[in-house]
Amino acid sequence: MTDTLIERFRAIHGRAPEIVSRAPGRIEFIGNHTDYNGGPVLGAAIDRSVWVGLARRPDGRRRFASDAHSGPVDLASDAFERATGTQSWVNYPLGVLVAMRDSGIGIPAGFDYMALSNLPAGAGLSSSAAIELSSCIAFLEAAGQSVPREVLVALGKRAENEFVGIPCGILDQGVSGFGKRDHLVHIDCRGPTFTTVPLPAGSNFWVFNTHVRHALVDGLYAERHRECLEAARVIGVPLLVDATPAMLAAAETRLSRSAYKRARHVVDEIARVEQAVAALLAGDLAAVGKLLFASHRSSRTWFENSSPELDFLVESLEPEKGVYGARLTGGGFGGAVMALASEAFGEEGVGRVAEAYLARFGARPDVLHARADDGAALISRGP
Ligand code: GLA
Repeated sequence: MTDTLIERFRAIHGRAPEIVSRAPGRIEFIGNHTDYNGGPVLGAAIDRSVWVGLARRPDGRRRFASDAHSGPVDLASDAFERATGTQSWVNYPLGVLVAMRDSGIGIPAGFDYMALSNLPAGAGLSSSAAIELSSCIAFLEAAGQSVPREVLVALGKRAENEFVGIPCGILDQGVSGFGKRDHLVHIDCRGPTFTTVPLPAGSNFWVFNTHVRHALVDGLYAERHRECLEAARVIGVPLLVDATPAMLAAAETRLSRSAYKRARHVVDEIARVEQAVAALLAGDLAAVGKLLFASHRSSRTWFENSSPELDFLVESLEPEKGVYGARLTGGGFGGAVMALASEAFGEEGVGRVAEAYLARFGARPDVLHARADDGAALISRGP
């Protein structure tokens, strides 16, 4: 992909990039809506990424191009307003520049920029975190700045929260930043602190993207966030990570029904993440798989962020040979299902699930095979 990026960069900007960076997409493995509740989450950086090429310009202009959008978008050095319409993809790199500037980190003046991706957008694989982190690495390099990885991740999240305007937690940027081949990233989101957990050999990921999303998904995400904070307030704790199952049970009658249901999912899910870590370290993929199915059921019943399409995929995957477990991945309300499987699950099983889905919903899901890969990095620094 680096060669393709250089070729595309030349075609658009008339020269080669000085800097090339890469950041991967992610799978939310388990820990659904635990991040902004201060809990733990497990995710995998995957072998699908966004690459960014950058070359400095002496005239101070910033020219943003992307293989997925028409352009380039040409901005003056003092233009930091949010873009709209077909140019709104620029808000990801622009948001990163603003986050760097507002954090007191030097930013490059003018540059030519090009993003190239083999990570499907809108598939619940966090292409937004991938473009934020790959852009941030390139900007830091161009400005002669170096920051700890925790800061890189925080800058990406700040861009997403404050400039793009999505109140997400640390999961997406944290996993893209701290990914490691054949490992899961474990984030204790309160710190946050980042560690990795080895994946037992033969762990395969399959992602089934339904392309069906609730029209109000951003609003529903924000509403769930509010309901969780409300539940914590009524229980009398700062965040739901501080609530034990006994505290939640004691508060049930004081909580609205929806606040109770959301909190029930989060409190149980936090326990499942730690059980999954123990099962992974013991190499017990069957036990991990059971936790994945339990997480999905909890999303469906308590958090109400599943959909008929996601439920159907999980139910179709459950009896398949080689499938340890499956669940919705990411925010939910449509999107994608991920399955953890052995080599015994392959094209034949995938075909069966896709056919059944086609017969039921009249369209095929997109299917992607992924492995856990390394996190965001500088790829090259030219003359
Ligand atoms: C989205 C958000 C994450 C996280 C998940 C749900 O992917 O971007 O921060 O909250 O939803 O676990």
